[in-house]
Amino acid sequence: MQILKVQNISKVYGNKKGSKQYMALKSISFEVNEGEFIGVMGASGSGKTTLLNILGSIDKPTTGRFIMDGKDITNLNKNELARHRVKNIGFIFQDYNLLETMTLKENIILPLTLSGYKVDVIEDRLMSLTKDLGIINILNKYPYEVSGGEQQRAAACRALITNPKLILADEPTGSLDSRSGRDLLELLTFINKSYRATILMVTHDVYAASYCQKILFIRDGEIYNELYAGDDKKKFFDSIIDVMSVLGGGIK
Ligand SMILES: Nc1ncnc2c1ncn2[C@@H]1O[C@H](COP(=O)(O)OP(=O)(O)OP(=O)(O)O)[C@@H](O)[C@H]1O
Ligand SMILES: [Mg+2]
Repeated sequence: MQILKVQNISKVYGNKKGSKQYMALKSISFEVNEGEFIGVMGASGSGKTTLLNILGSIDKPTTGRFIMDGKDITNLNKNELARHRVKNIGFIFQDYNLLETMTLKENIILPLTLSGYKVDVIEDRLMSLTKDLGIINILNKYPYEVSGGEQQRAAACRALITNPKLILADEPTGSLDSRSGRDLLELLTFINKSYRATILMVTHDVYAASYCQKILFIRDGEIYNELYAGDDKKKFFDSIIDVMSVLGGGIK
């Protein structure tokens, strides 16, 4: 089943009078099926974050539209958009974005408390998720009291607790050491498989990308290529390196 249909999305920055205009996305179109784990790669400045922010309704496209679960999101008003974002989108950022004045538990359940869920529903979801993600024993700690990897797992729990239709991750392993990075990728794969979550993950890292089922390569605001994983992980890895070397920049 198709969960996302992106149609001719463009983004122009600098619409104010006198400021220089820059076209960060140029008529991007693609489709995502439910349960897919998709990587987004491309050189720095190619438009990856711009695309993710638009799909997460953090930002608006200049032209074009996208349809999520049959609904044209670009037609929603401000209130509908806010509700849509809390309910349907889980965002995982490179620098976790946890609130420092709240415990991990309070951070994780925030989307549910904001939406007025019942306490027992919240507790149930919190317990099963944090058990799966291995942070159930540190829920009363504050972000500064736990490691980067643990913070990112808490951020992943926060992104997942609403059972969002779409998880958007912008370089989620970018601030982690290789071990924690690998753990997070295993976790996203687990979430993808057992919760059938649909994931779009921006990454510069070929190793991280090799966890995906498909990669969208972006160059200068356009889709340059799509690569499917197939059965041979080594071949997929090599193909990603080949395309990245043509695109240039940012290979780790
Ligand atoms: N708010 C903004 N105003 C003006 N230009 C912007 C703004 N945000 C991004 N840009 C420009 O749009 C282009 C795309 O930026 P974007 O952040 O989407 O790139 P990216 O692919 O995520 O890069 P990176 O890999 O470095 O994170 C860049 O040239 C950037 O300078
Ligand atoms: Mg970016």
